[in-house]
Amino acid sequence: MMVCEYKPGLEGIPAAQSSISYVDGQKGLLEYRGIRIEELAEKSTFLETAYLLIWGVLPSKEELETFEHEVRYHRRIKYRIRDMMKCFPESGHPMDALQASAAALGLFYSLRDLHNPVYIRDSVVRLIATIPTMVAAFQLMRKGNDPVRPRDDLDYSANFLYMLDEQEPDPLAARIFDICLILHVEHTMNASTFSARVTASTLTDPYAVVASAVGTLGGPLHGGANEEVIQMLEEIGSVENVRPYIENCLERKSRIMGFGHRVYKVKDPRATILQKLAEQLFEKFGYDKNYDIAQEMERVVEEKLASKGIYPNVDFYSGLVYKKMGIPTDLFTPIFAIARVAGWLAHWKEQLAENRIFRPTQVYNGLHEVTYTPIDQR
Ligand code: CMC
Repeated sequence: MMVCEYKPGLEGIPAAQSSISYVDGQKGLLEYRGIRIEELAEKSTFLETAYLLIWGVLPSKEELETFEHEVRYHRRIKYRIRDMMKCFPESGHPMDALQASAAALGLFYSLRDLHNPVYIRDSVVRLIATIPTMVAAFQLMRKGNDPVRPRDDLDYSANFLYMLDEQEPDPLAARIFDICLILHVEHTMNASTFSARVTASTLTDPYAVVASAVGTLGGPLHGGANEEVIQMLEEIGSVENVRPYIENCLERKSRIMGFGHRVYKVKDPRATILQKLAEQLFEKFGYDKNYDIAQEMERVVEEKLASKGIYPNVDFYSGLVYKKMGIPTDLFTPIFAIARVAGWLAHWKEQLAENRIFRPTQVYNGLHEVTYTPIDQR
């Protein structure tokens, strides 16, 4: 019998073969289907990048227009989903609302024709189109308002920002938001993608795949960190407090949110791009305290933790950008999900193409041959 070494967190153990994205954590390199993210952030759009990831190649002009058109005209959510969401508690976390709504969508599409390319395409379009509408609908309904109907004349990101408060967004903010989605869409075998692939491997429907991945993304060590970054900036409160705050964290051995990464041992390339976008945004809409605190944090953490390879990750600057756009903090992780759904679906499709159900093993460290003690003798 082969004896395998147990690695907590499966660190370094390949869980799949994939041609979707590639990370070099030493060089700070991230590619989607071989294209560097810096190039996609500059030249592409979220929907084009989603197409690239899911279908493996950049679309032609016509293919892109068709895909954009399909997504645009599937943005509305069914009134029953809306009515169901109305019953959710206002105090509930939007990630939980999103997970429940994505799973509920599957109730309407129970046919599971997993090897039919039309079924795959329809599911991809429906999920990419409706997830933003669900996030925006819950945001308005928890404040007691009716959801805003999607606007067909606005592109993907501008429409989402519009649906949040019924105001057309500033074009620079909408473009920056779209780039944020590009930067969050995919990132190799992270926890939520692994979760999506495990669920996909059972041959369940894509709504269950996405719902399971949304549940995994919500934790503070994964997508939930961007929310905690803002809470941390607010707790720090001033540039002078940065150094004592960090020193205190290090003394207590607690994690500084938005820093460190399992794969990157240099600065996360997404954080570098986001930092530049943040600068553009603050330049246009005015610098504030959070910006100065964030800059100082990066300096102090680098001074103290660069030797351990701890630098800002994607969540550090995305939180700052979303906050400046006036987006409520607890929507940051659902926005991560809006982007990542396309990555999960690319992995769903790839998993189906060569499926074997995930069934790892374990190292048993419990007891054997234990006799049952009757309840009155325990
Ligand atoms: N603050 C302070 N120390 C840290 C941090 C941090 N954020 N991250 C790692 N370290 C230290 C850690 O204490 C350990 O030190 P030592 O060797 O002295 O015990 C060393 O660095 C290695 O840490 P690790 O726990 O082995 O690293 P990991 O690969 O398990 O952790 C991580 C990766 C992302 C969970 C971790 O860096 C972390 O908790 N960061 C804060 C939360 C965060 O920002 N999460 C978002 C991740 S990026 C988006 C995503 O992928 O979802």
